[in-house]
Amino acid sequence: MRGLKDRVAVISGAASGIGRAAAKRLAVEGAKIEILDVNDASDAVNEIRAAGGEANSQICDVTNQDQIAEAVNAIEQRHGRVDILVNNAGVLSGRTPWHQLTYEEMNRFVQINYLGYFNVSKAIYPLLKKSLHGRVINVASRTYFLANPGQMAYVAAKGAVMGMTRVMAKELGEEGVTVNAVAPGMVATPGTEAHSNEEAFNRVMMNQAIKKRVTPEHFAGLIAFIASDDAEMITGQMILCDGGGYLH
Ligand SMILES: NC(=O)c1ccc[n+]([C@@H]2O[C@H](COP(=O)([O-])OP(=O)(O)OC[C@H]3O[C@@H](n4cnc5c(N)ncnc54)[C@H](O)[C@@H]3O)[C@@H](O)[C@H]2O)c1
Repeated sequence: MRGLKDRVAVISGAASGIGRAAAKRLAVEGAKIEILDVNDASDAVNEIRAAGGEANSQICDVTNQDQIAEAVNAIEQRHGRVDILVNNAGVLSGRTPWHQLTYEEMNRFVQINYLGYFNVSKAIYPLLKKSLHGRVINVASRTYFLANPGQMAYVAAKGAVMGMTRVMAKELGEEGVTVNAVAPGMVATPGTEAHSNEEAFNRVMMNQAIKKRVTPEHFAGLIAFIASDDAEMITGQMILCDGGGYLH
């Protein structure tokens, strides 16, 4: 993919799942990886380094302003700028009827899955402005379109991510920064496997146009493309990678 060599890419939630696959793929394309995760991401870092790539990670809860400031400061010391920000850190949801949701549960999803993206974007912005090829890629969810019963907290937070993406795309256009949302359908990761069994994954697959499981690596390919120079005129969009499970 064009233009990813030596780009500085910050990926939140890359200790696991989709974020980890995206970090590995961007590293293969030559980007320098900075992982922010509430959990230890040294396995992902070691894998990238063993394959000849460059990566660092920091423990950082995306709801904690102090931890974010400290992490961004370390990234500034190391690289002086950020070219690519992938907001991905999030929590997956089980099913709870909306009227049984507590304020605390609603707030948890808003804080992590939406405001976490806002917090990190805002803190990284001064470094992103120094890039000539700025990219913000927000991992949203197809669930927003499906409006799955029992997932209101999750759907509302991911819907807010789409709103944020569209406004940021317009505001950052002047600076040549693209802002897009990318949406998985149902990708097997530690996060989704905690809530869904094999039968559920197969059922989703059989509703797709392409009857094959979508993997974190498929999704990482979309992220790498959006981050590349080939996507410089794509902004403010919501792009699905779900094997044609939802056609809108
Ligand atoms: N896998 C899917 O099918 C699917 C579908 C739709 C959307 N998504 C979205 O994709 C993203 C990645 O999900 P995944 O499936 O890879 O899940 P995952 O649980 O495997 O990975 C999520 C990562 O985020 C980190 N994280 C969680 N809370 C955090 C916090 N407060 N601060 C920093 N890091 C935190 C976790 O430690 C973990 O490494 C999420 O935003 C999720 O909502 C996934």
